[in-house]
Amino acid sequence: MSEYPDDLRALVEQRLEQLAYSPRPETAGLEEAMRYSLLAGGKRIRPVLCLATGRALGMDPEQLLPIACSLELIHTYSLIHDDLPAMDDDDLRRGRPTSHVAHGEDVAILAGDALFAEAIRLACEQPGAPERVLAAVREIAAATGVDGMVGGQYFDVVGGDEDPDALRLLHSLKTGRLIAASVGSALALSERPEAAKQPYRDFAAELGLLFQIVDDILDVTGSDAELGKPSGSDERHGKVTYVSLYGLPRARELAVDSHREAVGLLAGAEGDTGSLLRIADFIVTRTS
Ligand code: IPE
Ligand code: IPE
Ligand code: MG
Ligand code: MG
Ligand code: MG
Repeated sequence: MSEYPDDLRALVEQRLEQLAYSPRPETAGLEEAMRYSLLAGGKRIRPVLCLATGRALGMDPEQLLPIACSLELIHTYSLIHDDLPAMDDDDLRRGRPTSHVAHGEDVAILAGDALFAEAIRLACEQPGAPERVLAAVREIAAATGVDGMVGGQYFDVVGGDEDPDALRLLHSLKTGRLIAASVGSALALSERPEAAKQPYRDFAAELGLLFQIVDDILDVTGSDAELGKPSGSDERHGKVTYVSLYGLPRARELAVDSHREAVGLLAGAEGDTGSLLRIADFIVTRTS
């Protein structure tokens, strides 16, 4: 496995652990459910991407922790809802029983809702020039909404056409947009000119697609223990994926092509892109 920027991951882990949402004892059970899913050892790709982008642009990663952690709260909310009986109906996530199995469907839905709202609050607490913080929050909310993750999840549940363009769009929306916003939110906070930011945006869009192609492959090739979630979930639910559409060998080739494309796009970027390149390598070689 390729080296991951573990220093950035440790910063994220520490801040997520410190987050508290309300002093009220009456809602302690809700916070417990939120923390149960949030602090269960995800890869933290999205916040680490945000911090690595900041690092490449000469910003202090520690300063970006509020916006970076807001991405992980949104992602965790999406996982809780994705696993619900009405969605993918999965019972294992991050190596633990899913939220609705552990806390009941009602509390799981609310834990997801609360994580989303608390994410926006946290993002608004990001230090920086108000217009830049607003742009970063807008980027994250837009990537989560109808022209983003939730729109992609809608497309996923209603079942799109089984053709390459429809599948590419599905993946770009349901996973790609939030990954792209992980880079985009750091770009929004940076004072670099727009032209200098474009290679990062192009890289991030490709990386998001790559991430979901690899997720589709691992759903077939991984074990429950490796993935921390049930393998074979896509086939059980008749999902259109890169593997169902192209077969495993071709899906693997497409992942390698997408990785090459992403790395090539980043070659045009100014800055120390080493951490971002390591994340791209990690995504294509990951086994969980
Ligand atoms: C899984 O995301 C869901 C997708 C968007 C494919 P991750 O693979 O990033 O899950 P964690 O955060 O490491 O658990
Ligand atoms: C979900 O895609 C993407 C989200 C927005 C949560 P999947 O349904 O493939 O994610 P996993 O495989 O359950 O993590
Ligand atoms: Mg799903
Ligand atoms: Mg799922
Ligand atoms: Mg999947």
